[in-house]
Amino acid sequence: MRARIAVLPGDGIGAEVTAEAVRGLRAIAARYGHDFTFEEGLLGGAAIDATGQPLPAATLDLCTQSDAVLMGAVGGPKWSHPDASVRPEQGLLQLRKALGLFANLRPVVPHPAVLDASPIKAELLNGVDIMVVRELTSGIYFGEKHRTATEAMDVCRYTVGEIERVVRLAGRLARERRRKITSIDKANVLETSRLWRSVVDRILPAEFPDVAFEHMLVDSAAMHLIRKPRDFDVIVTENMFGDILTDEASMLAGSLGLLPSASLGATMRGGLYEPIHGSAPDIAGRGIANPYAALLSAGMLLKYSLQLPAEAAALEAAVSAAIVSGVRPADIAKPGSAGASTRAAGDAVLAAIEPANRD
Ligand code: IPM
Ligand code: MN
Repeated sequence: MRARIAVLPGDGIGAEVTAEAVRGLRAIAARYGHDFTFEEGLLGGAAIDATGQPLPAATLDLCTQSDAVLMGAVGGPKWSHPDASVRPEQGLLQLRKALGLFANLRPVVPHPAVLDASPIKAELLNGVDIMVVRELTSGIYFGEKHRTATEAMDVCRYTVGEIERVVRLAGRLARERRRKITSIDKANVLETSRLWRSVVDRILPAEFPDVAFEHMLVDSAAMHLIRKPRDFDVIVTENMFGDILTDEASMLAGSLGLLPSASLGATMRGGLYEPIHGSAPDIAGRGIANPYAALLSAGMLLKYSLQLPAEAAALEAAVSAAIVSGVRPADIAKPGSAGASTRAAGDAVLAAIEPANRD
């Protein structure tokens, strides 16, 4: 098949990890006879430097004309002064909103070969397989903001329609998994959470009677994620809770450098795929960032936007093979051993993709 893929490296290690993800996609295209074209666009700090805007119109056009978007990371100290009126992160938020990407899927599946990279005991991690569905285009991220010299305000707002669509998406995902949803909120305090809960209580039993569900308060969920992570199947939650809980959940997998994500809208077309990690300015440009999360994000791109499940599975298996063969970047390296370079990790993935050419 033919596909146009927009590549937005962004800032910091974004360029290094997306380069490996593109190499992975090229190798998959070669092996399966697809024709993927890649076009780069500016986003975040890199775009501010070049154009003054974190999301230039040309980048948005490129994304809307593409079948999928592969993104690296945005942000960095250069653009993060508290008083900065333009910030790299705004570019990403505007892009998610403009593309209508209301659901952010963040799978958390600790790899059996690197359980030792997690600070959590291995016996708690065996069999953990969580899919977090984070609402991505509303809530406190997008509500009215206000600032004076002596006060500041961020409004958290949700509409019924915004909750319904993400809950339905979680319901559909749960049907392909273990059919259990945990909806996470703060309904003992927040009005938006009480609305969220009422929508979940109406939609799930009526439309997904075959899916079991429970509600959990976010503070308790934060604890439960560490205490009994195996209890979770699909988690659905609002924007900021999902942001925070997935950074926490990344420790189950051992590192932020292993967690991919897919941001989807009503149609899969134009989905955005990015590692959940940030731009890591402290290690940028040194060739030591972990590219596995970006490669796994490319795998999600194959699965969801291009509807190529075999190719997605092949890329995922190649990342797994690289990990099993012991190619571990610094963030998941064994204590005392030097980490593999970004390129070496990418090479190991490519090596695991290519042998099948000789099938
Ligand atoms: C993420 C990031 C972003 C977010 C930032 C960069 C705006 O932390 O994708 O999790 O908060 O959504
Ligand atoms: Mn985050």
